[in-house]
Amino acid sequence: MGIFAEMYCHRMQVAGIFLSSNVLMAPIYGYTDVSFRLRAERNGAGVAFTEMVYVEDLIRGKARAVESARVDEKEPVKAVQLIGGDPLAFQRLLRGPLLAHADWIDINMGCAMPDIVHSGRGCALVHDLPRAARIIDACKSSGKAVSVKCRPGMTAEENCIRSFARMCEDAGADLLTVHGRPGNSLHDGDVMYDAIADAKACLHIPVIGNGGIFSEEDAAAMMRRTGADGVMIGRWGIRDPNVFSALTGL
Ligand SMILES: Cc1cc2nc3c(=O)[nH]c(=O)nc-3n(C[C@H](O)[C@H](O)[C@H](O)COP(=O)(O)O)c2cc1C
Repeated sequence: MGIFAEMYCHRMQVAGIFLSSNVLMAPIYGYTDVSFRLRAERNGAGVAFTEMVYVEDLIRGKARAVESARVDEKEPVKAVQLIGGDPLAFQRLLRGPLLAHADWIDINMGCAMPDIVHSGRGCALVHDLPRAARIIDACKSSGKAVSVKCRPGMTAEENCIRSFARMCEDAGADLLTVHGRPGNSLHDGDVMYDAIADAKACLHIPVIGNGGIFSEEDAAAMMRRTGADGVMIGRWGIRDPNVFSALTGL
């Protein structure tokens, strides 16, 4: 059994939902479809999220969005990730039937692609805490488990993780995942472990560390350096289907 499985792997409970492990599979646009998620969960991932689904597209019934939000009966946790900037659109979507099958909503407040940020979605929400809070509240009022995936800020210098993390908890989020890279470095560059540790230190809800985990040692280092409650695996999980069994020892 590896170092992560031995020292850091444990079951988790999030808003009454039991997770078989604290190793989460990240949402990855274009990859994390139903068959991928079923395999990840069978191999030990505590939960695997859909790719990000555009709230407005789902409301309009666009085929890609409807397909992305589809979950399978066999998935132990049915977790859909949404992206949008309008709290009323979230409210409308979650009051309707389109996501009745989901038991967990993850809100993407970390995507830093320029078109997403310029339209006030994803990572742009680190600069608009009142709107971000209304989005969380709109999701929470559905009665489902709600999590937020974020970054420390748009740049390393502006690191605003403490105020953002507190806002998430106060607004009712059940879990926070911090991708430790600032928005302007997209998916490369250094991971700000201190920012993840700061989020963990100021919250009562579970905090998951994400970014740059490509080995068991990386996963153990994320836990050791941040005190996080679990890890989220991104590209490593796409490249190697055995990651989850290796990390969990299952
Ligand atoms: C091709 C690609 C697609 C992604 N799609 C999403 C997405 O739909 N939603 C999301 O929250 N993050 C998305 N991400 C970010 C990942 O979830 C993750 O935060 C990022 O890859 C850092 O983790 P890693 O270093 O372990 O890969 C994407 C990343 C990549 C490379």
